[in-house]
Amino acid sequence: MTGHLLILGGTTEGRALASALDGRYPALRITSSLAGRVAQPRLPAGEVRIGGFGGPDGLAAWLRAEGVDAVVDATHPFAAGISHNAALAAAATGVPLLVLRRPGFTRVDGDRWLPVPSLAAAAELLPRRGERVLLTIGRQGIGAFAHLDGVHFISRSIDPPEPPLPPSFEVLLDRGPFTVHGEEALLRKHDIDVLVTKDSGGAATAPKLTAARGLRLPVIIVERPPVPEGVPVAPDVPGAVRWLEQLELLELPG
Ligand SMILES: NC(=O)c1ccc[n+]([C@@H]2O[C@H](COP(=O)([O-])OP(=O)(O)OC[C@H]3O[C@@H](n4cnc5c(N)ncnc54)[C@H](OP(=O)(O)O)[C@@H]3O)[C@@H](O)[C@H]2O)c1
Repeated sequence: MTGHLLILGGTTEGRALASALDGRYPALRITSSLAGRVAQPRLPAGEVRIGGFGGPDGLAAWLRAEGVDAVVDATHPFAAGISHNAALAAAATGVPLLVLRRPGFTRVDGDRWLPVPSLAAAAELLPRRGERVLLTIGRQGIGAFAHLDGVHFISRSIDPPEPPLPPSFEVLLDRGPFTVHGEEALLRKHDIDVLVTKDSGGAATAPKLTAARGLRLPVIIVERPPVPEGVPVAPDVPGAVRWLEQLELLELPG
């Protein structure tokens, strides 16, 4: 069977899935979709489209117009809006949907994690935990901390964040993968006393947690939003490939 697969991407997993399928299944058309947030994104193999669909109805219309047979939502665990839209569009069109979501970070002995349900809750807790913060939440959502004076922020993101920003704020433009050694050096150089991050999971950004553990720093960690109800989840690319095989969307050339 041949078909058209839409990968909602913007993540390492989205690119890895496109690479795993591209070329191996010549009869399968693969389109990866990116939101267009990053100025110079790492492009996946295969076809790429960039920009929003116009809500769940726009996505449903796109699935119909492009004859999509399956959708893999490989977006970032905190991109809850597009995941919600994908669940609605899949239900409306009957197109099978899988969420490809890497597991969250694993807490180990020595970690001083303070889990919170939202960025707002992180901002509320922060002034009681430290004065010099390494903020690694990406460039969106920093407005949740904008009212905090008396706290100095070093914020790391791929592209510069936009206002509103906290009064005492520095930006580090950088893109993972990072190393434990590099993260430790960064925490020491900036005299950081607390880390604020999201439970994104993934090897590329885990070294900051190892470094924080080594330096006995508290980590305010924002918990993930839930996966839309009833949508199957695969934790990795092989799991997503197995799901596609079960749909009989994949067949090797004979
Ligand atoms: N949130 C993070 O921390 C984070 C971190 C790393 C990478 N990313 C990636 O960056 C993108 C945007 O994240 P977000 O948190 O802003 O998403 P979001 O809040 O869930 O989505 C907001 C809107 O952006 C559009 N959109 C998001 N992802 C899209 C995609 N892959 N293709 C086409 N349109 C997309 C959709 O617009 P329409 O309603 O118009 O369709 C969606 O309604 C995602 O693709 C995600 O994988 C996010």
